[in-house]
Amino acid sequence: MKTIQWYPGHMAKARREIKEKLKMIDVVIELLDARIPLSSRNPIIDELTGEKPRLILLNKADLADEAHTEQWSAYFRSQGAEVIAVNAQTGQGVKKIAPACQKLAHALYKKWESKGMKPRALRAVILGIPNVGKSTLINRLVNKRQAKVGDRPGVTKQQQWIKVGNQLELLDTPGILWPKFDDQQVGMRLAATGAIKDELLDYGDVAAFALRFLAVEYPNKLTNRYEIELPDDLDDIGPVFEEIGRKRGCIIRGGLVDFDKTAELLLRELRSGTVGKITFETPAEESQA
Ligand code: G4P
Repeated sequence: MKTIQWYPGHMAKARREIKEKLKMIDVVIELLDARIPLSSRNPIIDELTGEKPRLILLNKADLADEAHTEQWSAYFRSQGAEVIAVNAQTGQGVKKIAPACQKLAHALYKKWESKGMKPRALRAVILGIPNVGKSTLINRLVNKRQAKVGDRPGVTKQQQWIKVGNQLELLDTPGILWPKFDDQQVGMRLAATGAIKDELLDYGDVAAFALRFLAVEYPNKLTNRYEIELPDDLDDIGPVFEEIGRKRGCIIRGGLVDFDKTAELLLRELRSGTVGKITFETPAEESQA
């Protein structure tokens, strides 16, 4: 997995680059992970984008709990954004992007009209943290026949625009923002979904966090997948871990459970959706915070 380690210098550079891109932009497309819509948000996105109209895409919707995705959509809409649940891998929801941008640019169209200007195509950029699916989405949207001037040797890479229908142009390079990794809980959620590098946090801790979360919030999915029973007391998740390891044959010499292997298996299956459609945070929880 390609993930950037962020240092203050990187953040300042990313911020500068995005500010530069935003000068050319009418609509901001913020890409979030539908499983962690808050934890996958950049902490300064509002400050960076200011009053620009915003389209929020809840990506990887195929992996998220549909009921929660609807709640999140309503939550962000109530804050004035347009929201679409998408799957950048299959393209589901992607056709709605251009019409949503047009809806958001209502005021801009009016302004052009009042000045007697002919409306031009809207200009948008995709912003998001690493691994949220920016490149996958851009690849979905790109018109393969379009010439890419910057790819020729000796030609300086210019900002390229990808035509999405007749009314929308998208910058071909997304704005890459850093996640809110200084909050422990956010860090765990980012790690559990695979958004941050496994080496950054203890693998076993992340698996234990994920297992406890599943046991509390999605007990049926957990018991069905691993054919286990859950104890009443979930404070000590060790025995559940051990049972999963045993059931799945993660055993080392002497018949002991191999915890590393069990942790790896659990996280792999969680991230790929094998355990089921899982969302780690809800708007209700957010308003209590
Ligand atoms: P980025 O540019 O924002 O950094 O993200 P990128 O497109 O590289 O996507 C990161 C991973 O997420 C990729 O997996 C990609 O296939 C997957 N992905 C993107 N959109 C979706 C989606 O809507 N649903 C699902 N299920 N997966 C999606 P990868 O290439 O296998 O990388 P990795 O698993 O090794 O990290």
